[in-house]
Amino acid sequence: MSFTVAIDGPAAAGKGTISRAVAARFGFAHLDTGLLYRATGRRTLNGTDPVAAARALTPADLDADDLRTPEVAQAASRVAAIPEVRQTLLDFQRAFATRNGGAVLDGRDIGTVICPDAQVKLFVTANDDVRARRRHAELTGKGMVLTVEDVLEDLRARDARDSARATAPLKPAEDAVMLDTSEMSIEAATQAAIGIIERRLAPGDG
Ligand code: C5P
Repeated sequence: MSFTVAIDGPAAAGKGTISRAVAARFGFAHLDTGLLYRATGRRTLNGTDPVAAARALTPADLDADDLRTPEVAQAASRVAAIPEVRQTLLDFQRAFATRNGGAVLDGRDIGTVICPDAQVKLFVTANDDVRARRRHAELTGKGMVLTVEDVLEDLRARDARDSARATAPLKPAEDAVMLDTSEMSIEAATQAAIGIIERRLAPGDG
């Protein structure tokens, strides 16, 4: 039986952490769909055509250790605005979402385009300063040298591009539950998400 959890929201709002915790709690498979766009964007940095780059993706591309850099993030956001790139990545994501045993996918258009019938849809947000500080701590923890301002600039530029594009823009599905994590610890945000999913899995049990 399939059960799909769609988790969308702007960059660095906490989607990834929440998704991993939800997947671990319920034994669901997890797909960070941003990695598909990052791996595609990374391939374009050496001049590869974006659509050809998306078509040529292999599982090994998603394991590359340099996908988290701001340069690759910007390339991801640029290729993500191309409808043919999104179309190329669609079937893989839909097949993942409906696999047996449950799946959680996080991204920008999971609840609106990839899985409009998902059993649970969350839209995770946090204010810009909180997101920049969280992402800065994550990246410097990996040894990258950059300022909070650099990170803030990257997030704002991507959010603006992701929200303004014509195809599958960043926006909440009409039936998404909004989760603002600005004032929440990551544990509290995760517990809130788990509670929403538990109620959907066992309606009427409290
Ligand atoms: O989630 P992450 O920040 O890794 O995503 C990188 C970029 O990939 C985003 O800024 C966005 O442009 C694109 N993306 C997308 N749709 C998704 C996931 C990511 O357009 N479902």
